[in-house]
Amino acid sequence: MTILIVYATNSGSTYLAGERIMKILHSGGHEVEMVEAKNARADQIKKFDLVVFGSPSWMIGGAESVPQEHMLTLLEQMRRARKAPARFAAYGCGEKSFTIFCGAVDYIDTVLKSLGSKKVLASLKIDGYYFHLLDNQKIVDKWAGELLCVI
Ligand SMILES: Cc1cc2nc3c(=O)[nH]c(=O)nc-3n(C[C@H](O)[C@H](O)[C@H](O)COP(=O)(O)O)c2cc1C
Repeated sequence: MTILIVYATNSGSTYLAGERIMKILHSGGHEVEMVEAKNARADQIKKFDLVVFGSPSWMIGGAESVPQEHMLTLLEQMRRARKAPARFAAYGCGEKSFTIFCGAVDYIDTVLKSLGSKKVLASLKIDGYYFHLLDNQKIVDKWAGELLCVI
């Protein structure tokens, strides 16, 4: 299966989680690529059998818990072009101290589902990646292992 991990990040945690996911999916014999949202295009994304979206939750223009700006732009581009992968999964880094925890992941879900894309696994919401590093690495690895089982 060809898999693309599209991620956005401000301080690196969503990237680091994405790298772990990539390694695990690759170990399962899949062809996996990783691209930053600012370098991704809707027509490129559509070609993969599965796309894994990763974004931190942020505050943009007064809107709380939305995807990082490059992910927002990409999702908007996909919405306008009505182009989405057949299947997707989503993960995100956030912090439970914010009013809406990991809202970016729900935002991604809503956009992808509205474009007819099928979600293959419950989304992963990671709390304070760097603050609980070892635990979070295990959580990410477990989720990636589950993803491997359903694709
Ligand atoms: C300005 C700002 C707004 C944030 N808003 C939220 C939020 O609404 N919900 C949430 O769960 N986390 C929120 N966070 C926490 C980040 O999503 C979290 O630190 C995440 O790990 C950053 O990911 P990154 O390292 O990939 O950039 C916010 C952080 C900042 C600095």
